[in-house]
Amino acid sequence: MKKRIVSGMRPTGKMHLGHLHGALNNWKSLQKEYDCFFFIADWHAMTTEYANTENIRESIPDIIIDWISIGLDPELSTFFVQSDIQEHTELHLVFSMITPLPWLERNPTYKEQLKELTQKDLYTYGFLGYPVLQAADILMYKANGVPVGEDQAPHVELTREIARRFNYIYGEVFPEPATLLAPTSRLLGIDRRKMSKSYNNAIFLSDDDSEISSKVSRMITDPQRMKKNDPGDPKVCNVFAFHEIYTPEETLAQIDKDCRNAAIGCVECKKIMAGHLINALAPVREKRRALESNPDLVKDIIERGNSRAREIARQTMAQVREAIRI
Ligand code: TRP
Ligand code: SF4
Repeated sequence: MKKRIVSGMRPTGKMHLGHLHGALNNWKSLQKEYDCFFFIADWHAMTTEYANTENIRESIPDIIIDWISIGLDPELSTFFVQSDIQEHTELHLVFSMITPLPWLERNPTYKEQLKELTQKDLYTYGFLGYPVLQAADILMYKANGVPVGEDQAPHVELTREIARRFNYIYGEVFPEPATLLAPTSRLLGIDRRKMSKSYNNAIFLSDDDSEISSKVSRMITDPQRMKKNDPGDPKVCNVFAFHEIYTPEETLAQIDKDCRNAAIGCVECKKIMAGHLINALAPVREKRRALESNPDLVKDIIERGNSRAREIARQTMAQVREAIRI
């Protein structure tokens, strides 16, 4: 039997290259070896977007289309929607009863987000409990592993602590899942900040050729390189980080050399990169178009995934109720 992994993504809009290289490619590389459950964490989106929930539901099919377009395969993996499986809220409640507050208050992601997202009032019960809900997502399916980026590692650690505490109090029900860290990605947004829809600096999987060209032409390069005659440093250049992924080996070596010798200008260098990026994204967009014209198929994929997930969730909740005697 294959080991099982579970991972989720908040529906904060369509997917961009940050999602692709930060998470989706990692998911894709695991989908043959593991029994994969990938889901849309719409309740988690609500923890920060509770005052702006109008776009959450309609973005779900869009995200599923992006996942399939980059090569996640609904025949190999189970895609589902968190809020469609009611058991998640129930297990979240049970875990909330046994999770000590200090575990949540010292969570580094919590402290950081409170400081950063100052336009929103995040002093809510639900936001503090974000990792408790995440533990319910993971343990519901008795996952052996959770593929996530570095920033989510503390949440998986907390999941293990909650599993341990549950098992200690009520008897062995949950295995402790391992963290499967995604390889870190050097890609930044076109302004060199973390790529994010809210920063307006993202290249989306659905961008067309001219949007890609235009965004690449606006990318900030090596900030030390002011004039074309100044030598550049590819190691600190975000355009070069894209080259490393999308440009063939020989061209890459040449660009590296030419940049250091000021033999190539950034405008030309960006054009070369944009060409390779456009070629790489063309088949993704093609697949997206085909799926967009077939909304029933996408609906069906979500329904099938939901049923598979629901079946396991029901079994787990039955065991949980037995264990807690309620
Ligand atoms: N917190 C995760 C993120 O922001 C999303 C998420 C919710 C998740 N539940 C999960 C990831 C369970 C892995 C497993 O990226
Ligand atoms: Fe970056 Fe290319 Fe300009 Fe060098 S030439 S700084 S790699 S964009």
